[in-house]
Order: sequence, then structure tokens, then C-alpha cells
Amino acid sequence: MLMKNKILVTGGTGYIGSHTVVELQNAGFDVLIVDNLSNSSPDVINGIEKITGKKPELIVADCADITKMDEIFSTQPAIVAIIHFAASKAVGESVEKPLLYYRNNLLSLVNMLELSLKYGIHNFVFSSSCTVYGQPEILPVTESSPIQEATSPYGNTKQIAEEIIRDTVRANSSLKAICLRYFNPIGAHPSALIGELPNGVPNNLVPFITQTAIGLRECLSIFGNDYNTPDGSCIRDYINVVDLAKAHVVAVKRMLDNKNKQMLEFFNIGTGKGLSVLELVHVFEETTGVKPRYKIVGRRAGDIEQIWANASYANNELGWRAEEAITDTLLSAWKWEQALASKK
Ligand code: UFG
Repeated sequence: MLMKNKILVTGGTGYIGSHTVVELQNAGFDVLIVDNLSNSSPDVINGIEKITGKKPELIVADCADITKMDEIFSTQPAIVAIIHFAASKAVGESVEKPLLYYRNNLLSLVNMLELSLKYGIHNFVFSSSCTVYGQPEILPVTESSPIQEATSPYGNTKQIAEEIIRDTVRANSSLKAICLRYFNPIGAHPSALIGELPNGVPNNLVPFITQTAIGLRECLSIFGNDYNTPDGSCIRDYINVVDLAKAHVVAVKRMLDNKNKQMLEFFNIGTGKGLSVLELVHVFEETTGVKPRYKIVGRRAGDIEQIWANASYANNELGWRAEEAITDTLLSAWKWEQALASKK
């Protein structure tokens, strides 16, 4: 009899995807990665193999290509769950190229759901985002905080995706889905064998800090110190990427362990603690002993002032919690940046 133990991870060579593949393999699952490598490198597979001792299967394909994806599904009878990461994720780019974002992010989601139904794969995990909450009136946000109008096409794809998943599960009771609403993922695997690989100038704070610290960038710009926060800079909930990856393993197991239960769930995946941009920079300086140059500049358009998670639902219901200290997380990001520099 076929042992069904394979997890299909779309976008599995990306930042969060690759860390999740490691945790899935460590938990004993087989993994098939489908990735079009549009924003990642196949070298990531070697890093995953070095960490886990096992090379995950990789098929280079675009999830928006239904013919190709159908072909893949038809030859992969062992798949028992799908974790769907594959998506474009640059907020600014999505404002300039909305249709690219709707095509990439929504078409691929629809394809994956259709194929889950067609091939009888009943378990679906989706990478959602705290961006669905916009600027919340009440902090921290819980899963029942209001969903607010998206401030970018990227954010809108996450909102629409959740609705597509909701409607699909309602119409197909055999399909289970868990949407994980990530806060701000940062850091790298402690081995420094995998981590974030920003394409060009980083949009996100931590890669910009580490690249400035190593000398690749002149100076970090801090976008605004006149927000209504204690030090005037924006507040986020920074979640360690390995902790975040583990939440996916827990979600998959939860679905596999509850075969006969209907499931459509949404979880905040954060630490429950907010940290300002300035605080984060100072923690980086204190833990690494390196002081990246920084200057305060004007606000960045579209930034939310402050958001952090109430993660108690995930803590209590999933039995998952963020474990890594922010100091260790920033050290892991720094180790990763240094490892990248040593390869050049
Ligand atoms: N920031 C800087 N300088 C930089 C980069 C960022 O000051 O060079 C600030 C931002 O203004 C913001 C904070 O650092 O206040 C965090 O910014 P990031 O770009 O790292 O993260 P965001 O919170 O803007 O975005 C992240 C994800 C998105 C997701 C969003 C949900 O990158 O995919 O969280 O809120 F949609």
C-alpha cells in the first residue's frame, strides 16, 4: 500500500518555504517542492540537504500553469497536504503591477485548490498575512479583529485569497484549510545554511540592517520618527522564521490528526510583542556589537503605524508558540549575512 506522507510545498525554495521544508523533513515528512524560481535559487536545496541530510524533490514549474500543475499532480499520488507559499510579495511592485499580482497570487491559488479537489488532497495550508488587519484600532489584534480595506494590491491578494479559500471549503466539506496570518518574519536558520535572499535592494528592515552592517549599503533609512508611538518609529511583531516554519508543521499535523473534522481556521502567527524600528536597530547593535549607520527620513507611503499579534489562539489551540528570543533571531540574521559575504 502506498504510504501517503508527502507534503507539496509550493514556493518551497523561497525564504519561509525553505525553512518550512527543513522543519517538515525534520518531522519525518517527505517533501515535494514546486517553485518557478522567479525569486529564489535552486541552490537552496543544497542548504536544506546539509541541514536535514535529505534532499527534497524539486520540480521547477509555475503554479499559475494549470496544465503543467495537473501533470505534476497526476504523477504524485503520495501527496497528503499542500502548503501554498508561492506568491509575489513586494508591496511597492504590486502597486505598479497589480495585474501581475492578481494573476500570480490568485490564479495559482485557484489552480491549487482545484487540483486539491480533483486529486482528493484534503489538507491545505495558506500563507496569509497580518496585512489583512490594516491599521487596527485595538491592539494587539486577534483573529476576530476587523479585516480592513487593503492598502496595496499585494495585501488585497491575501484578503481575496482568504475569501476564495473560505468559499471553497464551505462548498467542499472534505477540504480542510488553515490560513496562517504571519506577522513580520525575520532571521535565518541557526546553521546559516539557508536564509533570506533579497533580490536587489531589500525592501524589508532586517535585510537592510544586515546589509548595511556588512558594508553592502551605506546607510539605513528609518522611515519616520513622528508616528504616535513611544519613540516615534513604527511598531511590528517580528517573528523568527524557524518558529514560523514550525507553525506550518503543527497545522499540517492538526489536519491529518482530525481526519473526520471539518476545518477552516485562521491563526495569528506572531510573538505577541511589538518592537519599534529604533528598538530593533538597538537590539541588533547590542547583540552583534556592530552599529549600522542610520538616518531618520520621511515616512514610507502605505506603512502601518503599529501592529502586533495576540497569538493566544495559536498558543492554546495549535499548541504552538514563538520560542526564539529576538536577540538570537537577530544574531541568526547576522550570521546568515556573514555567511553570504564569505561566499563572495
Ligand atoms: N523600515 C525602515 N527602513 C527600511 C525598511 C523598513 O524604517 O529600510 C521600517 C518600515 O517603515 C516599517 C518596518 O521597518 O515600519 C518594517 O518594514 P518591513 O518592510 O520590514 O515590513 P512591513 O511591516 O512593511 O511588511 C511586512 C511584509 C509584508 C506584509 C506586511 C504586513 O514584508 O509582506 O508586513 O504588515 F504585507
